[in-house]
Amino acid sequence: MESHKRVKVSELLKREPGAEVLAKGWVRTKRGNKNISFVALNDGSTVKNIQVVFDMNSFNEESLKEVTTGACIAVKGELTASLGSGQSVEIQAKEIVVLGPADPDTYPLQKKGHSMEFLREIGHLRPRTNTFGCVFRIRHAMSFAIHKFFNDKGFFNLHTPIITASDAEGAGAMFQVTTLDMTNPPKKEDGKIDYSQDFFGKSANLTVSGQLEGELGALALGEIYTFGPTFRAENSNTPRHLSEFWMIEPEMAFYEIKDNMDLAEEFIKYLVKYALENCMDDLQFLNDMFDKELIERLKSVVNTEFVRLPYTQGVEILMNSGQKFEYPVSWGTDLQSEHERYLVEKHFLKPVILTDYPKDIKAFYMKQNDDGKTVRAMDILFPKIGEIIGGSQREESLEKLESRIDQLNMDRETLWWYIETRKFGSAPHSGFGLGFERLLLFVTGMSNIRDVIPFPRAPKNAEF
Ligand code: 4AD
Ligand code: MG
Repeated sequence: MESHKRVKVSELLKREPGAEVLAKGWVRTKRGNKNISFVALNDGSTVKNIQVVFDMNSFNEESLKEVTTGACIAVKGELTASLGSGQSVEIQAKEIVVLGPADPDTYPLQKKGHSMEFLREIGHLRPRTNTFGCVFRIRHAMSFAIHKFFNDKGFFNLHTPIITASDAEGAGAMFQVTTLDMTNPPKKEDGKIDYSQDFFGKSANLTVSGQLEGELGALALGEIYTFGPTFRAENSNTPRHLSEFWMIEPEMAFYEIKDNMDLAEEFIKYLVKYALENCMDDLQFLNDMFDKELIERLKSVVNTEFVRLPYTQGVEILMNSGQKFEYPVSWGTDLQSEHERYLVEKHFLKPVILTDYPKDIKAFYMKQNDDGKTVRAMDILFPKIGEIIGGSQREESLEKLESRIDQLNMDRETLWWYIETRKFGSAPHSGFGLGFERLLLFVTGMSNIRDVIPFPRAPKNAEF
């Protein structure tokens, strides 16, 4: 059998009938009768299966006994034109080897139509389903498209650290990294833990964002982006939050807030368009199975100009909406996803870029407006998601940055290196962060963020 090289199903389905081929993959279904058996074989290269036909004059029941749903097989045979509908070619089997059987009595994916909740409990096997195959292929395509977008524009990919001693968002929900003996940590005289004896000689955490280091890159290389895992220890059990998620953070010297918005809008449209042009089989499957408006929604985002609106006006719209919100809204409150979605889904019916938020609900590094109340922030709000991008122009004035750090009772000392960029050759600059899984929620139409990442990390959830 190994005299042939295995051909992927995606490739077989494009071929003309004729030659002898070797396919390997997992059995999705087997049906047939005494004379003939049909196996739908999938190898993950595409959502489509290849049909394998067994003439039962050449194969006996016994030889196909282990060919059951979930089993892994290798089949050699002739690629022939298919008479059945739904595929142009199929394999007329000549030889078969069962590489790995799957006991029908215990294989959890024996039947179709499992709930997403159940599939989350079998995270080690759910990639074998059509749905997760589609989602993870799209995830790959989006990751590739992100690098392509920035590379084509001359941005440099900068690898920012995963372990850090600073808190980029000033929000304080970080995972600690330590090698101290937590049952008996060394103490200082005041009774506090003595982190000078810890691995890094100071307290360290998993990063919440690569932005601060990204800014150092932008102020040297001009235009950079990071694309890495970020970690947040908030106890948020929502369909839009993960404790470990991936974020794309471009950072650009000489960009003002408008340039930042233009780039973010172009970026997100590029990615959605890329999915429509390169992932149609997978999108069509998700559209048919989960969300009949998915493809239409994706197309409409590519073709729509996003609304750009100051926070103050957004809040006025919400307050005059007559809508009952779970969380009341007034100037100065942080917007909840229900508010964001009202603006996008009910009021404007298109994506909204909300700008100039009150400074007290945004991070210390955002450029302060002359009104003394707001900062040059921009959040992009999307249908079904709410916030998909958060960004801003950065405060480039040393004096203003330091006074904001002091006002917020943050520690100048741990940020000394960040502050120095404003001392030496400071420049106007801007950037934003796109939550990769929020993007994937939008592109795949999935409704829970735990279903767009292979191994979700969430409170009380790190099994697989
Ligand atoms: O708005 P955030 O917190 O912004 C930052 O971290 C900035 N440093 C970004 C920058 O300007 N470079 O997060 C950015 C995006 C959000 O808009 C959201 O899409 C996503 O990251 N995000 C999460 N995604 C999944 N789970 C969570 N817990 C998330 N928190 C934020
Ligand atoms: Mg945000």
